[in-house]
Amino acid sequence: MTTSRPPTSPAETDPGDPFLSVRDLGVRFSTEDGVVRAVDGLSFELRRGQTLGIVGESGSGKSVTMLTVLGLHEPRTTEVTGQIRLDGQELVGAGERTLQRLRGNTMAMIFQDPLTSLSPYHTVGRQIAEPYIKHTGASRRQARARAIEMLDKVGIPRAGTRVDDYPHQFSGGMRQRAVIAMALVCNPDLLIADEPTTALDVTVQAQILDLLADLQQEFGSAIVLITHDLGVVADVADDLLVMYAGRAVERGPAAEVLRSPQHPYTWGLLESVPRLTGDVDQPLAPIPGAPPSLLDPPPGCPFHPRCAHRQRVPGDACATERPELPVGRGAACHLSLEQRRTHVIEHRQPGLG
Ligand SMILES: Nc1ncnc2c1ncn2[C@@H]1O[C@H](COP(=O)(O)OP(=O)(O)O)[C@@H](O)[C@H]1O
Ligand code: SF4
Ligand SMILES: [Mg+2]
Repeated sequence: MTTSRPPTSPAETDPGDPFLSVRDLGVRFSTEDGVVRAVDGLSFELRRGQTLGIVGESGSGKSVTMLTVLGLHEPRTTEVTGQIRLDGQELVGAGERTLQRLRGNTMAMIFQDPLTSLSPYHTVGRQIAEPYIKHTGASRRQARARAIEMLDKVGIPRAGTRVDDYPHQFSGGMRQRAVIAMALVCNPDLLIADEPTTALDVTVQAQILDLLADLQQEFGSAIVLITHDLGVVADVADDLLVMYAGRAVERGPAAEVLRSPQHPYTWGLLESVPRLTGDVDQPLAPIPGAPPSLLDPPPGCPFHPRCAHRQRVPGDACATERPELPVGRGAACHLSLEQRRTHVIEHRQPGLG
């Protein structure tokens, strides 16, 4: 098999060092209406060979966070603060040349909408081969062989023929696979998958998730899986980060977060997931209300306008004091540990975690 970089021997990588480390990340957009605080004080870590699930409703800052890691924000209207370390290298403030070299080669993203990542004017094979040529200096012939190999790997039948098809000749599920092949062609060390299974039917969803797991086994990549669906991360994520209004509200090992969630927002997300076992017809209970405007986020706990538990916190702390997210496993909430434990025991759900 052709690889784009020499394999890293286990001795070269220190398992103690996170491959991706994000510290106190802030992302602000200047808009006509004011400053949008899309990401605020966000920290997380990811090791090689591990998968981090990032969950949260639409608009919670998941995509902006990872686009910022890739350096794909508009520099004139975006203010980025904090640290983003990839394999020890600082990316906040790094030059465009550095970021371009890393994108595709060291880190790659599967975007939310496969159609926006594929040009209708070029064959699928050419679009997979292009980044390979750019990053490895391979010949056209080698790159074409590599494109066929990748299409085959992502489960496209008769890859040797389909390589010359245009995107419109592929089904939706096949286009999604082609986008994954494009992202993986240079064996990225960090793969970011932004809602990679949204809009696909359940069978294809499962195949794509299996595929990511297989490819991770083969290449030892670190994966960030963004999704609004907690059911999807239950099987594949090692760690879980729950985001709300641009902040991390809960994090920890995925199984633990799903088994004993600590934050009322996570409780709400879990209650809106169809039961994985038992009565699948049970109606969903979506979280009442909507996420706040990030032009003027609420003071105190950003979730307080929607939280059914704030009356249980003495005084008006939820509306005035910002709860901090502890380092490691924990949740940013003023409820006592005892109150949270009691809630979890009383509301334990079958099927998750
Ligand atoms: N370029 C931009 N300019 C202004 N606001 C933006 C921009 N991109 C994203 N946002 C806002 O940032 C917030 C987070 O968005 P996003 O990260 O896309 O959420 P999601 O969690 O659904 O991926 C949203 O309120 C969105 O409207
Ligand atoms: S801090 Fe208060 S408002 Fe926020 S989640 Fe906890 S109980 Fe609810
Ligand atoms: Mg998004």
